[in-house]
Amino acid sequence: MKSLKRIILSIFMLCSLNMVAKEGMWLPMFLQQLNEAEMQAMGLELTAEDIYAINNGSLKDAIVHFGGGCTAEIISAEGLLLTNHHCGYGQIQSHSSVEHDYLSNGFWAKDRSEELTNEGLTATFIKYMKEVTADVLANEIADMTETERREMIKSLGDSLISIELEGTHYEAMIKPFFKGNRYFMFVTETFKDVRLVGAPPSSIGKFGSDTDNWMWPRHTGDFSMFRIYADKDNNPAEYAEDNVPYTPYKHLDISTKGVKPGDFTMVYGFPGRTDEYLPAVAVKQITQVLNPAKISIRKTALEIMDKEMRASNEVRIKYASKYASVANYYKKWIGENTGIQKTQGLKRKREFEQAFMDAVNSDGKYANYAGLLTLYDSLYNQLEDLAMARDYFIEVAYRGVEIINFANKVSKFVGSGDINDLENFKKSITKHFKNYDAHTDELLFDALFEKYALEQADSEYLPAYFKGDTYSAEEVFSKSYFGNKEKLEALFTLSTKKIQKKLSKDPAYKVASSLYGHYRTVIYGDYWALEDELETVDRSYLKAMMEVLPDYRNYYPDANSTLRLAYGQVQGVSPLDAISYGHITYSDGMMEKYVPGDYEFDLPKKLIELYESKDFGPYADDNGKLPVCFIATNHTTGGNSGSPALNAKGELVGLNFDRAWEGTMSDINYDASRCRNIMVDARYILFIVDKFAGAGYLLDEMTIK
Ligand code: ARG
Ligand code: ASP
Repeated sequence: MKSLKRIILSIFMLCSLNMVAKEGMWLPMFLQQLNEAEMQAMGLELTAEDIYAINNGSLKDAIVHFGGGCTAEIISAEGLLLTNHHCGYGQIQSHSSVEHDYLSNGFWAKDRSEELTNEGLTATFIKYMKEVTADVLANEIADMTETERREMIKSLGDSLISIELEGTHYEAMIKPFFKGNRYFMFVTETFKDVRLVGAPPSSIGKFGSDTDNWMWPRHTGDFSMFRIYADKDNNPAEYAEDNVPYTPYKHLDISTKGVKPGDFTMVYGFPGRTDEYLPAVAVKQITQVLNPAKISIRKTALEIMDKEMRASNEVRIKYASKYASVANYYKKWIGENTGIQKTQGLKRKREFEQAFMDAVNSDGKYANYAGLLTLYDSLYNQLEDLAMARDYFIEVAYRGVEIINFANKVSKFVGSGDINDLENFKKSITKHFKNYDAHTDELLFDALFEKYALEQADSEYLPAYFKGDTYSAEEVFSKSYFGNKEKLEALFTLSTKKIQKKLSKDPAYKVASSLYGHYRTVIYGDYWALEDELETVDRSYLKAMMEVLPDYRNYYPDANSTLRLAYGQVQGVSPLDAISYGHITYSDGMMEKYVPGDYEFDLPKKLIELYESKDFGPYADDNGKLPVCFIATNHTTGGNSGSPALNAKGELVGLNFDRAWEGTMSDINYDASRCRNIMVDARYILFIVDKFAGAGYLLDEMTIK
C-alpha cells in the first residue's frame, strides 16, 4: 500500500517537473525525460545521453567536484583540470611566500616536474546515480521522529552502499532530494593527488577583487589549472612521486567561436545549496533579521582586516584568503536583501501561499495541508532568537576571532589530561600560525566581542560570560599562550600535568570554554530540535505544493552539492529602470577600470603591452576586440564556481565563476528577469595562458575547436 502510494507520488513528481524551464538545477539522470526536448528546442545539438550516461564517456565524465566545494573540468587527455582562480586560491596562497609570491606574480609549471602538490585536495567524479527512495524508506512508519527517520535511512542506506560497492574502489553517498521526499545514491571515484599547474597573477585572476566581486560588468580572468595524478593503473592513489597524469574517459573540447545573445548554454557542476521553497516568513527572517546582523558583524571584521593588510605585506599574504571568504558572503547577503526587496520577493511568496491555501481549502482531500503555513509561522517565530544567537556565536567565536576557536581545540586535553589528546592538538599548531597575525586578531577580538555583548544584550541567549567579569582583548593577548607560537611550544617542555593546569587557566581558553559551553548547552539542542520540526514541515509542504499547485511554478530539487545541469541563454540584463547591461565585456573595459598601483585594479605591465599592440592572436572576437567575460540565464549558486559553460555542441565556451549582484537572491527566490551567471570567456583563458603567460605548451594537450 505504502509503496504504491510512493510510486504514484514519484510519477507525479516527475510529471510536474516537466515544464518550461530556465530556472532550475536539474538531475542528470532525468534530463531525457524532463529537459531534452526543451533544451533541443533552445538550440542544444546533443542528446541527453551525450550529457549523462552511465557508460563512461559522456560529458559528465569530464566534470569533477573540486576539493568538495567547487567544480572543475577535464580539458585534456592527460588529466588537466580547469577551475577558478578563487577555487584554487587556498592552494596558490599556501605555496606563496614573500619570496615566491604566486598570488602577485602568478605561477606556471614549465613541465610536469614543476607541478606543485596539494595535501588534502581531492577531485571526485560521479560514476553514476540511482534512485533509492523506496529502499531507504522501507521501514518508515507514521509519526517517526526525524532522528529515527534519519537513523533508518542511514542504516538501510549503509547496507545498500556496501552491496553496491562490493569489489570496487569507489565510494558512495545517499542524499535527500525534494526536502526528503526522495533519495538518490551517487557512486563516486575520488583522486587524491591533484597538483597545481598554473595560475595567472591575482591582478588578472582576481582583477577588481572585492569591489567587483558579484558585479557585472566584470573583467576578471578567474581561472587556474590543476592536474589529476593516478597510480600506474590509472586508479586513485595518495600522492607519490611516481604517480602519473590521469587518463580521463572524457575531456572537454574548447571552442574559440565565442557566444552571441540568444545562444544556448548549459552549466554542469556541483551547486552547493539553495532554498527555493521557503515560506515567506522564513525569507522575511533571513533578509530582515539574520542577514542584517551578519552583514554588520562582517563589516566590522573586514574594516579591521583591510587596514592591517594595507599596512603590511606579510599580513596581506596571510589574510588574503580569509578576507576574501569573509567579504564574499558579506556582499552576497547585501545583494540578496536588495534583490528580494526590489523584486518584491516577499509579496510573490505570499501570493503563492494565498493560491496554495485557496486550493487547499477548495478540496477536502487536502485538509491535511491546511495547517502547514500557520505551523511555519509559529516555528519561525520560536526560531528567531535562537538563530540570531547561533549566528553571533558562529560569526564571532567560531570564525571571527581565531584565538577563541584555536584555544577551544585544547579543551579535550584540558578535560582528560591525556597525552594523546595533547599530541592531537599539537598537530594543528603549525597550520594555525602559518596564516595568523596576533595583532590583527586582537583588534578583531576587541571589536567583535563588543558587538556580541551589545547587540545581543537583550537576548535571553546572551552567553553568561558577558554578564560576569569579562577579559579585555589586551589581557587575553598579553597573557594567553594561544596567541604566540613560541610561547605555546615552550610550554610543552613541562610535565603533562603542569601543561594541563596552565592551559586550563589560560584566558583565551576560559573565554572559549565558556562560549562554546554556552553554545552546546543552551543553543544547540533547542535550535536543532526546531530545525527538526521544520524538516518535517518542509517535507510535507513541498509534497503538498507539488500536488496542489503542480502548474504554478517549476519544481526541481534544491541544490545539495550534487551534480546538476542548468541551462539557459546568453543574454544581457536590465535590472533597473534605464539601466541595461550588455552580454559580453572586452579588454577595453578592463583598461577603463585600470588604476596603476591599486591593490584591486592594477594590471600586469605585459598585459597592457599586449592590449596596446592589439596582439590578441586567434582569441579576438569578430569585432577585433579581446573578450573577457559574458553572462547568461543559467541558474547557478555557490559551488558552481569552476563549472564549464558549454555551448550547443557541448564545447567549453566559458568558465562559470559568479553571479550578477542584482540576482543573488536566486538562492531563495529566483527571478529570471534579474538573475545572470557570470563566466570567463574561454578565449580570454586561452589568450592569458598562451600570449600572456607564455605557457602555450599547455594548449598543445587541449582540443581547441
Ligand atoms: N562571488 C564569487 C563566489 O561566490 C567569487 C568569490 C571569490 N572572490 C572574492 N573577491 N572574494 O564564490
Ligand atoms: N562564486 C560562486 C562559487 O564560488 C558562484 C556563485 O555563487 O554564483 O561557487
